[in-house]
Amino acid sequence: MDNMIIFSMPENMQLTKSLADKLKIEIGIAEFHSFPDGETYVRIESDVKDKAILLICSLDHPNNKICPLLFMARTLKALGAKKIYLVSPYLPYMRQDKQFKPGEAVTSALFAQLLSGFIDHLITIDPHLHRIKHLSEIYSIPTTTLHATKLVATWIKNNVDSPFIIGPDEESEQWVSLVAKEVNASYAIIKKTRYGDRDVKITVPEINDTSKTPVLVDDIISTGTSMIMAIEQLLLRNFKNPICIVVHALFDQKVEENLMRAGAKQIVSCNTIVNPSNQIDVSDLIIEGIKA
Ligand code: R5P
Repeated sequence: MDNMIIFSMPENMQLTKSLADKLKIEIGIAEFHSFPDGETYVRIESDVKDKAILLICSLDHPNNKICPLLFMARTLKALGAKKIYLVSPYLPYMRQDKQFKPGEAVTSALFAQLLSGFIDHLITIDPHLHRIKHLSEIYSIPTTTLHATKLVATWIKNNVDSPFIIGPDEESEQWVSLVAKEVNASYAIIKKTRYGDRDVKITVPEINDTSKTPVLVDDIISTGTSMIMAIEQLLLRNFKNPICIVVHALFDQKVEENLMRAGAKQIVSCNTIVNPSNQIDVSDLIIEGIKA
């Protein structure tokens, strides 16, 4: 990690400190200020000439973060930084990966073009790859895709007796099947059809063994609608109260409260997005990606 310096965009200092400690690298000093009209002031104090930069910025709620990130990256380069590695543990705009109706913006590709224009390498964790199978289909810069499945499986092994893993929709099978294999448990996948942001219909497959602890695993919880529907259906079928595990806690307001009210036993997430439910630390996984 010679000649590398790490910078945190606002709200990412906890993960930045943990990475800096483990990598034994300096944390760069930068000043950010939000003007009353919402515009952003950025000033970099540290010497970055000829250095490789690790820039930490989880891009949940990306619209307000993308301008400061662009200003930071371009200013680092103007000050002589050699290469910018963006660590965005959560990568946004991956779900609109095709035109469902004429005239729609395919935002996954547009956002990829935007980011590819001002950083040199992207490191991320479990991006929502569905119709797009690899980030290189839309990103023109090198990318490193890391997977939190082993960390999720370890949490389950250490905390749940007799788990039965359940995916709340077909897309979740890519994570659920791997987690189930790691913990040596069976799994089932719910069928989901989405009609709107908070309007989904689900069909739970026939599962006979209700003695196990249901563990719902998905990449993202946003409004919580998918998980809440799954919890309600499982409880109607006499399952125990499910544990909900998610990689990215993209929680809308009151999601935790609503999930607990629906009957969740516990809500657990990785710290890719800062949230009180964070129990699974991804810093060692990110370090593997940086060193690869
Ligand atoms: C969707 O394809 C994702 O994997 C999640 O299932 C989805 O984003 C969850 O959204 P919500 O919490 O709003 O139901």
